Amino acid sequence: MKAAVVTLSDKGFRNEREDKSGELVQMMLKEAGYEVAEYRLLPDEQTQIETVLKELSDEKEMDLILTTGGTGFSQRDCTPEATMNVATRNAPGIAEAMRYASLAITPRAMLSRGVSVIRNQTLIINLPGSPKAVKENLEYILPTLSHGLEILKGVTGECGISLKET
Ligand code: MTE
Repeated sequence: MKAAVVTLSDKGFRNEREDKSGELVQMMLKEAGYEVAEYRLLPDEQTQIETVLKELSDEKEMDLILTTGGTGFSQRDCTPEATMNVATRNAPGIAEAMRYASLAITPRAMLSRGVSVIRNQTLIINLPGSPKAVKENLEYILPTLSHGLEILKGVTGECGISLKET
């Protein structure tokens, strides 16, 4: 499966902060067996984020796009809005699962507005911005993502039944 990592951070974009979260997402994806084919670091600009999400889904044909940052309450945070604007279908369970798991670690998990959606053949998931939050969220969802992606791509027809076997 081909994955893209998109970091949303004004400070990161201006080179005022090292993008440790983007690096961590890439590392965790590679460890889980994904090919990390694209990486972008963008400011918190909604139109720009939407353009890149569309490019990565439609032209680069990514199976999975993980964003990090821009999910909070700051006036500049617009990752969920950009993500929802490019969605063709909702896939709320993944964002719900992340908040469910994270609330057992910190009540501040409720402050992430991150969403999970599908754009045609691409699954797009918003992770919060800190490396700690990235690790806690991604660790929880990674084991289940591949099954969802297989169904999205048509590799698996139904739960547990491979199309090749039927
Ligand atoms: N989720 C987990 N698992 N661990 C965390 O430390 N931090 C929260 C939340 N989600 C956190 C978390 C905090 S403090 C904020 S403000 C929001 O994510 C939004 O983060 P973002 O604006 O960096 O995207």
